[in-house]
Formats: sequence, structure tokens, C-alpha cells
Amino acid sequence: MNKLKLGMIGGGLGAFIGDAHRRASRICNDYELVGGVFDVDYEKSKEFARNEGIDLSRCYESVDDLIKSELQLPAGKRMEVVAIVTPNALHYPFAKKLLTNGFHLVCEKPMTMTVEEALDLEKLVAEKGLTFALTHTYTGYPMVRQMRDIIATGALGTIQRIDAQYYQGWINSIIHGTGSRITGVWRLDPKHAGVSSCMGDIGVHAFNLIEYTTGLEVKEVLSDLNPVKENIELDLDGTVLLRFGKNLKGVIRASQVCGGEENCITIAVYGSKASLKWAQEDPNYLYMLSDSEPTKIFKPAHGYNDRFAEESHTMPAGHPEGIYEALANIYKGAAKSIRGESFIPGEFPTVHDGVRGMQFIHSVVKSNTDGNVWVKVE
Ligand SMILES: NC(=O)c1ccc[n+]([C@@H]2O[C@H](COP(=O)([O-])OP(=O)(O)OC[C@H]3O[C@@H](n4cnc5c(N)ncnc54)[C@H](O)[C@@H]3O)[C@@H](O)[C@H]2O)c1
Repeated sequence: MNKLKLGMIGGGLGAFIGDAHRRASRICNDYELVGGVFDVDYEKSKEFARNEGIDLSRCYESVDDLIKSELQLPAGKRMEVVAIVTPNALHYPFAKKLLTNGFHLVCEKPMTMTVEEALDLEKLVAEKGLTFALTHTYTGYPMVRQMRDIIATGALGTIQRIDAQYYQGWINSIIHGTGSRITGVWRLDPKHAGVSSCMGDIGVHAFNLIEYTTGLEVKEVLSDLNPVKENIELDLDGTVLLRFGKNLKGVIRASQVCGGEENCITIAVYGSKASLKWAQEDPNYLYMLSDSEPTKIFKPAHGYNDRFAEESHTMPAGHPEGIYEALANIYKGAAKSIRGESFIPGEFPTVHDGVRGMQFIHSVVKSNTDGNVWVKVE
């Protein structure tokens, strides 16, 4: 089968997530990177293209140039799908142009800067009939997919509490002047990041994981956000109470200043009969707890898992897979959709998940600004 012709915006030399996207696209073996606009600086973009062995005639200076030139190429050579891996503020303008011109998209989160922009992209994707995969990477892990499948069977009984956490520590040293990292610091600047740093960058992953695994919608939030230091414009830490309905509540705790924490995203869903717990730093173990039986541990590549989880792990049992494979699973699902093949809902987060993410971020910021009050997620 021919590989899909992939383009990339951002992800040049020294960039963080673009490299993971390229590896993921290669792992699933459905894509061939043919060109892009890899850096805001055209010289650096070309240097990157040379290093990767990409045809320099397809290393463009701007997204406008990319669209114009690619549309002139014959079908079969032309770029079909583009990955947007730039800072947040650029996702919407680039996604809008690319969708308007018929390109399928893989796009980083948070999807846009505002809820209105997110709704606009959702409408455009529907009108154009294109594939839009939003890379909430954690949904690609086999044991997250297994968690979703177990919850869908009702095995937990009535869900009574949902608890998600995403703790990192890397911004701690930056705000106290002891860290040397320079990439990614745009997250502290509202012009590039949007209305939130912590909730927009990582709280939104925890939110997505909750809605993805449970199939439930968070209806209302009450937040208490913390910029941690004077002269910091955005939240770097916060707690969000969640209401799903009358008798179901939960919490998201997120922080970028928990010194020593690395990438500690966890989720626990507690039911009347049983509960499930998963942690990204130990992703191949899904724990099922109950009051009446010893704890069960689900692991990838065993026949007792559901088909979706099984198909999300490629090696035999005991060969750990991680973040690249999780992202590759999302790329694989997107490839099926682009090719018009059948796929399982949940194989890749969609533009609607992007709308929900933006509704979450904005309602959390509004709740905090309005004096820590309950706000509808809409
Ligand atoms: N899914 C995940 O788990 C995950 C993890 C990390 C980052 N992200 C998201 O990925 C995005 C990028 O984050 P990052 O940490 O890789 O950022 P980064 O700063 O490391 O890289 C950004 C890249 O975008 C390029 N860029 C900037 N402006 C550009 C322009 N006008 N045209 C072309 N390229 C341009 C930069 O030159 C750089 O190569 C963010 O939206 C972030 O939220 C997601």
C-alpha cells in the first residue's frame, strides 16, 4: 500500500514534540515525510530538511507557500496530510488554511486559542469531510484503551468518583532562575500559549483522559489557579473540582512547579463494584481494585484484553512499549480514516475532543477569574 504523503509545520531542530511525531509516523509505517515548514527561521528549516534528507524544494518558507506549491503537484506526489506541531497560537490559523485547501490534519493540543476558533474548525472539518486527529497522546496507550473498554462494559458498577492528576516540575527552576532550558518557555507567554499555561498545556490532557476513558462529560468546574510568583501572567498550578451529574464528582490537580516530578499523569475511576487506576510513568500496568477480591493487574499483549487494546500493542507480552508507540497508534487510526478504511471510535482523538478541551480551559480560567465559582463547561 502507498504511504501517505506527510507534511509538518514546526518540529525543526531542537523542537520537542515534532521528533516524537516523526518517529510515531514511522513506527506505524503508514506515512512518508515529504516536506514542510519546520522552523520559524527559514535557514534553520532548510538545515533541518538537509539533515533529514528531505527534498529542499519541498522545504517551504511559509504555510502559504506550502499550500500553493503542493496543490500544483500531481496527485500521488502531493502532500495529503499535515502535522501541526507549533506553539499553540499558530494551530488555528494554520489548520484553517490547510483544511480549506483540502489537507487532512494531525494537530497538537490545545487545539486553538479560543472556543470560537475550535467550533469553527469543527464546522470546517465536517463541511470538508477531512480527517482531523488531535494528538492527546495518552489515549494511544493499550492500557488506557483497555480502561475505556472495561468501563464501557459497566464492570465498575456506578461510577462515584474520578480523580486525575498531571504533575510536572520543569517550570520550577525556570521561574526561580536556576534552570537552563530555553525551548518550550513560550508556554508562559499568553501571546503564544493562550489564556492558561498549566491547565492549557497539561490539565487539558487530564481532562481528555477522563472523558476518553469514561465516555462521560464534565458538566461544571470550579477552579483555584495559582501563578505561583509575582509577574507571572498565567497559572502554573491549580486544582479543578468537577461535576458530572448530581452524584458524580471528581477532581483534576495539575502543576508545572512540583519540583522533582517528571511527567506524572495519572487517572483513577472509582465505581460501586470496582475501580481502575493507571499511571503514565508505568503505562503497561492497569490496576483493578475491589473491596471483595485481590487487586487485578492488566498488562498488554494478553488474550484477556479487548481487541482494541490488543491491537494497540505490537510486540509479544513482556516487551514494554511506551510514548512513541502510543502516538503511533493515533497516527495509525488517522491513516485508516484518511484512507477511508473502517476504524474503532477512539483510535484517534477528534476535532470534537479539541472543542471540549478548549471549553474546559476557558471555563476553568473563568471560574478562577470570577472568584472560584462553578462554571458550565460549554
Ligand atoms: N501531545 C503531547 O503530549 C505534547 C507534548 C509536548 C508538546 N505538545 C504541544 O505541541 C506543540 C509544540 O510544543 P513543543 O514543546 O514541541 O514546542 P517547541 O518550542 O519545542 O517547538 C516548536 C516548533 O515550532 C516552530 N515554529 C514556531 N513558529 C513557527 C512558524 N511560524 N512556522 C513554522 N514553524 C514554527 C519552532 O521553530 C519549533 O521548531 C504545542 O502546542 C504543545 O502544547 C504536545
